Amino acid sequence: MSLSVSVKNMLSFASYDALMAELPAAHATLTGHTGKGSDFLGWLALPTQIDRDEVEAVKAAAAKIRSDSQVLLVIGIGGSYLGARAAIEFIKSPNYNLVAKDSPKIFFAGNSLSAAQAEELISLLDGVDYSINVISKSGTTTEPAVAFRIFRELIEQRYGAEGAKERIYATTDKARGALKTLADSLGYTTFVIPDDVGGRFSVLTPVGLLPIAVAGIDIDAMLEGAASMAVRLASPSADNPAWQYAAARNALYRQGYTTEIIAAYEPRFRYVGEWWKQLYGESEGKDLKGIFPASVDLTADLHSMGQYIQQGMRNIFETVVTFEESGAHISVPMSEDNLDGLNFMAGKELDELNRMASLGTILAHVDGGVPNIAIELDAPSAYTFGELVYFFEFACGLSGYLLGVNPFDQPGVEAYKQNMYALIGKPGFEAKRAELEARLYEGPMIGD
Ligand code: PA5
Repeated sequence: MSLSVSVKNMLSFASYDALMAELPAAHATLTGHTGKGSDFLGWLALPTQIDRDEVEAVKAAAAKIRSDSQVLLVIGIGGSYLGARAAIEFIKSPNYNLVAKDSPKIFFAGNSLSAAQAEELISLLDGVDYSINVISKSGTTTEPAVAFRIFRELIEQRYGAEGAKERIYATTDKARGALKTLADSLGYTTFVIPDDVGGRFSVLTPVGLLPIAVAGIDIDAMLEGAASMAVRLASPSADNPAWQYAAARNALYRQGYTTEIIAAYEPRFRYVGEWWKQLYGESEGKDLKGIFPASVDLTADLHSMGQYIQQGMRNIFETVVTFEESGAHISVPMSEDNLDGLNFMAGKELDELNRMASLGTILAHVDGGVPNIAIELDAPSAYTFGELVYFFEFACGLSGYLLGVNPFDQPGVEAYKQNMYALIGKPGFEAKRAELEARLYEGPMIGD
């Protein structure tokens, strides 16, 4: 069995059973496309029904980028970059850009408005051949649009407008948005994000597939992993791991556990945690409800967040993801002087130490009143990543319906954008700008 879910210290199994009793309806709502946000369920069938011509076009573009370029600059934010970054770090390495390889380095831009980040990326592109993949479903998101202006000017200065055209790939809506208009008028190669797939559910579309393929990862294996998980999760039963995960986390939520911390003991998982936080945070955090998703990298964060998890406010539960580490055999050396007193570990492999740290920590946290959900996976691979992505997406859809929200919209993301547009001076926002400036710059402030 490739992925399993188990739960320690649920506090009330009655509550878990009550959630399980609600799952047939949530499952039917999700798979029958009858719930809120049902226009955005295209991801459900993606692994099996993805347009094969599009996948082949992605592979061809990836091969061209690999032969043209030493660097691929991926411009996107939120769902338009986190999945690709998660896949590359999980399957290859968090140090992917540093290790020797036959594929381009991959840098990410447009996920902030930081001048320091942009300046550093500009200097990293100096003297190397590069291509750009600009990704935006809406085609109107400010951060990637601004970054694309900056890097489009740079790439056109380097290769000329015609040369740049051969190196820019736009992944966006099939018809709408400024990016689509721009890409068509300048003749870029474009890839389509299907209408019915939202940003955070789009890693198995060209949004994720193109950068992932450029990194030399087998995207067919990734889709196969997702497809096999889709078959497994289609079964409406208490053995369904997505049911188990959705039931456990919602049972805990209803008992007052309002924060979920995802944890793993391998640094390669870090960006899967970032991707997961967006998936669950943006899908569930609405209508004044939702589990707050957080993440820790262990054992590193045991020395920063560990104190809080062990003894802080008791509204947290932990989801620990473990997987076989692949092939590294490093053991603790014997020391003649034993000055550090560690000879009792001599000869033991780091993997074993890591496993003992994980087991000891889970027990300590459970003893401290932190319920634990365990997710176990096979070793990291393109196939496992595909399975994991589909598992979390499906469980997220179920969880959202158990919570009673629309898991597929994100109306709250608009609020900061409207304020930012007004403050920057977008035409049509004059009244809002005046109102915001009055609030920001007039009246007493703390410290006045
Ligand atoms: O899940 C979502 O829809 C969002 O997080 C988007 O991915 C993010 O806001 C980026 O949007 P876009 O791809 O339209 O630029």
